[in-house]
This record gives sequence, C-alpha cells and structure tokens, in this order.
Amino acid sequence: MSTRPVRIGIIGSGGIARAHASAYKQLPWVEIVAVADVVEGKAQQFIDSQNLTGAAAFTDHRKLLELDLDGVSVCTPNAAHCPTTVDALEAGKHVLVEKPLSVTLQEGIAMVQAAKRSGKILTVGFQPRYDPNMGIVKNIVQSGQLGKVYYVETGGGRRRGMPGGTFIRKELAGAGAMADIGCYSLDMALNALGYPKPLTVSAYTSNYFGTNPKYHPEAEAFNVEDFGVALVRLEGDITLHFKISWAMHMDSLGATMFLGSEGGLKVTPAGRGPWSGVWDGKVGSMTLYHDIMGHMTESPIPVKEHNINLFFEKVKDFAEAVRDGRPAPIPGEKILFNQAIIDAVQRSSALKREVEIEIPEF
Ligand SMILES: NC(=O)c1ccc[n+]([C@@H]2O[C@H](COP(=O)([O-])OP(=O)(O)OC[C@H]3O[C@@H](n4cnc5c(N)ncnc54)[C@H](O)[C@@H]3O)[C@@H](O)[C@H]2O)c1
Repeated sequence: MSTRPVRIGIIGSGGIARAHASAYKQLPWVEIVAVADVVEGKAQQFIDSQNLTGAAAFTDHRKLLELDLDGVSVCTPNAAHCPTTVDALEAGKHVLVEKPLSVTLQEGIAMVQAAKRSGKILTVGFQPRYDPNMGIVKNIVQSGQLGKVYYVETGGGRRRGMPGGTFIRKELAGAGAMADIGCYSLDMALNALGYPKPLTVSAYTSNYFGTNPKYHPEAEAFNVEDFGVALVRLEGDITLHFKISWAMHMDSLGATMFLGSEGGLKVTPAGRGPWSGVWDGKVGSMTLYHDIMGHMTESPIPVKEHNINLFFEKVKDFAEAVRDGRPAPIPGEKILFNQAIIDAVQRSSALKREVEIEIPEF
C-alpha cells in the first residue's frame, strides 16, 4: 500500500458533491486537491463552505485534470457525465461517476471504452448497494432457491416527489424519473439477477404533472418524463416489468418481485411518505413465497436494520479501490446494461413501438 495520500478532484460542486466531499474528509488518507464547476465562483464557494483548505478552484474541468490526481468524483448533471468522465480517464484518473451513468447508451459505451483503454477504474455511484438488505436479495435470487426466475417486476413510485432545476431539463438530465430514480430499481433487479443483457424494450412515458403549473413551479421548463413503464426482455428468457413515477394519484406502484419456477420473492420499500416507494430508500420487508403441492408458505426474511451511511460507504469503497489497486466496485461496464434500458425507454416511447438494444462486447 502506498503511503502517499489518495489525491482527489471533484467535478461539479452542487448538491451531491457535498456528500462526496464530506465522505472524503472523513478519510485521513485522502486529500481533496481541486474542485471544478462551470459556474464562475461556485467551485471556490464550495471549497470555502466545505473547508477544503488549499484546494484549487477551476471553471474548466480540463484544467483540474492537468493536476497530479489519482481520481475524480464526477458530480455534474447527467449530460456532462460522459465528456468529463472520458476526459478524466484519458488523463489517467480513476473515476467515480454519479448515477445515472450517462444520458445515452452511446455515451455510456464511450465511457466504458475510455476506461478499458486507460486501465483506470470507472465506478458508478449506486449507494443502495451498500445496504446489507440488497445483498440478502441478491443472495436469495442467486442461491437458486427460486428455481428459474422468469419474471421480475421493479420500480417504485413517488406519489409527490418532483425534483426541479437540472433534473427536469432534457438538455441537462437527458431523461426524467426513469433515469433519476429508475436506475436504482433497475440496479436492484439486474444486480440480483447477475446483470443479464437487455435485448428489447417496449415503453411508454408521460409528463402530465411536471408540465402542469398546478403541480410544478417550473412547468414551462419541464421536458422530461415524470412517469414511465417498460417491458424489457432480458437474456436468459427473463421478462422485466419496470415502472417509475415522480408523481401520481396513487399510493404505490407496488413491490419488487422475482417470480421463479420454485418460489417467489417480494421486496417492499420502506417509508410511507410522498417520497417513499423507491429504492434509494430502505427495504421495508422481504417475503419468500412457495406453493408446495397441498400447502402454501409465506416466509418473512428478517430485514437488517442498520445505520450505515450509504453515501460514505460508496465514496470510501471507491477511494480504497484507488488506494489498493482494486477493480471498480460497481463497474461501468455492467451499469451500461442499466443505461441501455433507460436509453431504449426513451427511444421506444418516442417511436411508440418496441426497440432493440445492441451493446458491443468489450
Ligand atoms: N446518488 C444520489 O443519491 C444522488 C443524489 C442527487 C444527485 N445525484 C446525481 O448527481 C449529479 C448531480 O446532481 P446534483 O443534485 O448535485 O446537481 P446540481 O445541479 O446541484 O449540481 C451540479 C453541478 O455541476 C455543475 N456543472 C455542470 N456542468 C459541469 C461541467 N461540465 N463541469 C463542471 N461542473 C459542471 C453545475 O454548475 C452544478 O453546480 C446528477 O447526475 C444526479 O443524478 C445522485
């Protein structure tokens, strides 16, 4: 292990960058060396407010990348994930990019290719992976006790959970609820299944709430989806039904469920408030279902209560991977499948028909 501190830069100094800075600051062997933000003065403000004494401020991330850094956190709006990440990897820096990976599949491919070329880490910021309950779900699905898993339903619904700002403008976010919170639900399902390749998608999206001034203060600027549903065919003859809302006149879009030839697993999200029902929250309950000739069983799986700071864990895992020369904790190459579905949702809903997904081999 090297004794030199792990030298980090942060690109994009808005809301989520604070969680990254706060996690890095708790790691005495990490030094935040620089911050870049396109808005004049914002990086310096961030440095001052986060007490990052000695850190350099830039408006152009390429200047930051000229420094002697080991890794960067990419905390920009989605549309800037690809250019900043590719530049960082090409400059020989490891990258922790915030979710979702990118806007389009093509961008995601360019990012993974850059990581392959550089041999550097490209990891994606899915903090729910550090919830031990996600591990339990994966273990059950992978253990084979459900038999052949043929159908998965996932995705949550916020009843009233509309973001604003950079999240609702297509030119910055690329997509709406399907990408913003849908990527978590997809990760939960795909990670449990071992990330099978998506093949086709038939999707519908709408934005009746975001574009209505009665429901959204920035309705005029709102041009992404606030609701979406998709039927996804996955490799291995698995069907995935994926649905998400930022707002709806309904309490829930239902649980996540894995239907297998020998058993079923239902996972409900924790929380009942207007923002509940998505997997960036906690797991509420897990139940195994069996119908064994003559009797039916429903066995609750105990939910692990924890106070883990998931944001801290994801940033620490990245920093440790950089320090110890480990591979990407949540590899961009796998999350590309997640992005491919979000990309196909956008294409399918625009074309109003099923679309195919093509992902190159790397
Ligand atoms: N993991 C999570 O739970 C979580 C939570 C919130 C946001 N996010 C993700 O984090 C990203 C940022 O979200 P946010 O809420 O911090 O947004 P934000 O709008 O608060 O901040 C983004 C910042 O990036 C800056 N920026 C834009 N383009 C840039 C560029 N090319 N170079 C440098 N800076 C640039 C903006 O000026 C802004 O200050 C999004 O991708 C979002 O999906 C993740």
